[in-house]
Amino acid sequence: MASQTSRDRQRTAPVEVVEAVTPSTTPSTTPTADADYEVLVSQTTVDRRLLRGPFATNVWGGRYEVERFAGEGSQGATFIGTDRKTGAKVALKLFDLGKAKDWKAQELFDREVMTLKRLNHRGIPQFMDVVSDDDTGARVLVMTHVAGETLGALVAREKTVPEKRLWSLLVDAGAILAVVHGEGVVHRDLKPDNFILRPDGTLAIVDFGGVGLVRAQAGSTVVGTFGYMAPEQLYGAQTPATDLYALGATMLTLATGKSPEHQPRDGLAIDVDAAAPWLSTSLKTLLTQLLSPDPKDRPKDGAALVLALKSIATTRGPQGAKSPAKAPDAVVNADGSVEAIWREDDIDDAFRATGGVLGVVFSVMGMLATVGLGRLLIPFILTVIAAIVGGDDRRKLLALRDVVRARSADAQRLLMHSADASAQVINRVGDRQRQRHESKREKQERKRAERLQWIKDHAERVVKDQVDKKLDQRRRQQGFWRQ
Ligand SMILES: Nc1ncnc2c1ncn2[C@@H]1O[C@H](COP(=O)(O)OP(=O)(O)O)[C@@H](O)[C@H]1O
Ligand SMILES: [Mg+2]
Repeated sequence: MASQTSRDRQRTAPVEVVEAVTPSTTPSTTPTADADYEVLVSQTTVDRRLLRGPFATNVWGGRYEVERFAGEGSQGATFIGTDRKTGAKVALKLFDLGKAKDWKAQELFDREVMTLKRLNHRGIPQFMDVVSDDDTGARVLVMTHVAGETLGALVAREKTVPEKRLWSLLVDAGAILAVVHGEGVVHRDLKPDNFILRPDGTLAIVDFGGVGLVRAQAGSTVVGTFGYMAPEQLYGAQTPATDLYALGATMLTLATGKSPEHQPRDGLAIDVDAAAPWLSTSLKTLLTQLLSPDPKDRPKDGAALVLALKSIATTRGPQGAKSPAKAPDAVVNADGSVEAIWREDDIDDAFRATGGVLGVVFSVMGMLATVGLGRLLIPFILTVIAAIVGGDDRRKLLALRDVVRARSADAQRLLMHSADASAQVINRVGDRQRQRHESKREKQERKRAERLQWIKDHAERVVKDQVDKKLDQRRRQQGFWRQ
């Protein structure tokens, strides 16, 4: 039987290997797999002796058809396949727990299963099933398939990733990590290959094989990938901020196309300014925070990162709006995405409305004065004087009276016009305000409907989970797992 070390399985994530405590009881059965299956498995370091029992053919457990090799890490090989029962695409992660009889490996497998069962988020694969062969110790974790390409593949193809995409990846990653950390779990092995970017641009995190509980004791298994590991991981400490370091390192790799070991340093810390001088100041500042050697200088967890991103959206604005008065409000949606909402031009409208009211008041006052003096009082006085005086003077006074009346009529018309214009200003402001209220109400209505839908979906998922758990339990009781 080949030893664990000669198989050189630790390609990316170094995991402390505990010596075998019990000799393997693997029976020497010849695999009955067909040629295609042989070719598929030959791309991996999977031990052929596992290909028996439920894994004898490429339809594992009689249900999951293995089609494509996806990747291999410290714990096993991952394949993509199809669930024959439902037709759904699945990801199949095969662990060889029989070889090393490594309780740590068994524990990490159990933890990955437990974690996926617990975490419910679009950005995390969902647990579906476990297929196992107790004679060999082979275990397969079946989970939902995430379509797309890894960020590792993306950066290999595109060399560097533009800033706009980095922001959207950070927002998505922050939302997923908020859920993971909210459950008291740390991923511990974030790196470009463990993120999948879907064709619709949304992000998912895979590989929960390294998860640890927050603040596990120092000296326990060291999980992680050099370069992406936060300094504190070297002495076995882990907090949610550990994941944020790895996220920062991942983003810098995407921005520059260079892995963390090849980045310039300033003392212990990666020098983000020197590594990617073309990035905006706000992104460089955030990445510098994420990559702080001291976890206390980083945002404390996924939720804190979401808040930091929200506050950056508020002060910065989309495409870097210049005037602070024009900065939008940022709203974090239920799915964690950050949305910028521009404030309405309330102040200008308030000025306009005041001007309109003053216009009406002055026009009315002017009209009263004009009618009172120009049409009534002055013509009355002139008529009285004309009655007293006689001859030519009388004729002149009466003519003057007519002129005064005519001019006041003109002034009255002008004032009427001005009052009307001012009233129209008030009306327009009122209309705008009504429209604004209407659209605000519609927006609230829409948000409320979305929230209700989310709650409904969430409730359905919870119920489904419960039913699955019950079914699991029943199958277990019926000895389905042979455990
Ligand atoms: N649920 C999934 N959907 C699609 N691809 C996946 C899924 N899980 C893993 N993969 C792919 O398989 C690769 C290896 O799986 P991973 O869980 O990261 O195992 P390892 O511990 O071997 O790194 C990943 O880098 C990813 O490309
Ligand atoms: Mg991986």
